[in-house]
Amino acid sequence: MSTYAALPKVELHLHAEGTLEPELAFTLARRNGVSLPFASEEELRAAYDFTDLQSFLDLYYATTAVLRTRRDFHDLLWAYLERSAAQGLRHVEVFFDPQAHTSRGVAFTDVVDGLHDALTRAGTELGITGGLILCFLRDRPVDEAARTLEEARTRLDVLLGVGLDSAEVGFPPGPFAGVFARAAELGLRRVAHAGEEAPASSVAEALDALGVERVDHGVRCLDDPDLVARLVREEVPLTVCPLSNLRLRVVQDLAEHPLPAMLAAGLKVSLHSDDPAYFGGYVGDTFDAVAAAQGLDDATAALLARNAVDGSFASPQRKADLR
Ligand code: ADE
Ligand code: ZN
Repeated sequence: MSTYAALPKVELHLHAEGTLEPELAFTLARRNGVSLPFASEEELRAAYDFTDLQSFLDLYYATTAVLRTRRDFHDLLWAYLERSAAQGLRHVEVFFDPQAHTSRGVAFTDVVDGLHDALTRAGTELGITGGLILCFLRDRPVDEAARTLEEARTRLDVLLGVGLDSAEVGFPPGPFAGVFARAAELGLRRVAHAGEEAPASSVAEALDALGVERVDHGVRCLDDPDLVARLVREEVPLTVCPLSNLRLRVVQDLAEHPLPAMLAAGLKVSLHSDDPAYFGGYVGDTFDAVAAAQGLDDATAALLARNAVDGSFASPQRKADLR
């Protein structure tokens, strides 16, 4: 049981595909007649030894092959929601990567509708609120992102916003400016991964070219004091994922994670799990891991939780309930 179970948690950095535990992967593989390049759940888990973001993404995209139907997407997110409810989850803004599925012949609507089914059920059965954030894959062509956004027009009622993820180095945000401008016209909120592996300049580019309201990761911002000052002044939320940073070797040791420096600088930092099935912890586990590695006093834990509420796209009424 997490020490922080009673603290109301808001997840702002959580990839639906990153919640696929090996047990469910094999269940879905059997159900759909798909073969995985691993003999067993243990063998798959043993492959979770990553050297960088790309080495993780290779496995993450390979295992998505088991996700085929609307029911699969429901079952995936529902398993995450049930598990996280026990760790104090109250609100979640879920990233998903439609291009990873439509490129394999899965219908866009089956992906969105299955995930939305799980969120609707979570509202009723678990009291968890949330929404879906469609992420474009930055290492795929911009016109594919633009086509994906046009497909999303049939589901604008269930989409909260758009994001940008996948391989960061060599794939800057700038080329996606037009797609993000179109998303804003459609009434969608905007976020992007930046400053995870790529330098601080990618954070500034995401703010300037894409108009993002939140930055996912952003840890590399510390390399640029002017950027830090801007992020503080503009109160830009940064969704930090320490277990991800450890497993993808952005940091070598959790004790050295720059979370304390980010807080000391006055940045609006919150704690999240990114891809919990792969990185060894859900949102409550993330608080526990930070506490074990760095110490975490009650006031700081409460601040991190409150920053997540403030940085969310929940309604003012819901934010008041979550605080
Ligand atoms: N997709 C899933 N997790 C990711 C991460 N941490 N960075 C970029 N893309 C991702
Ligand atoms: Zn992420």
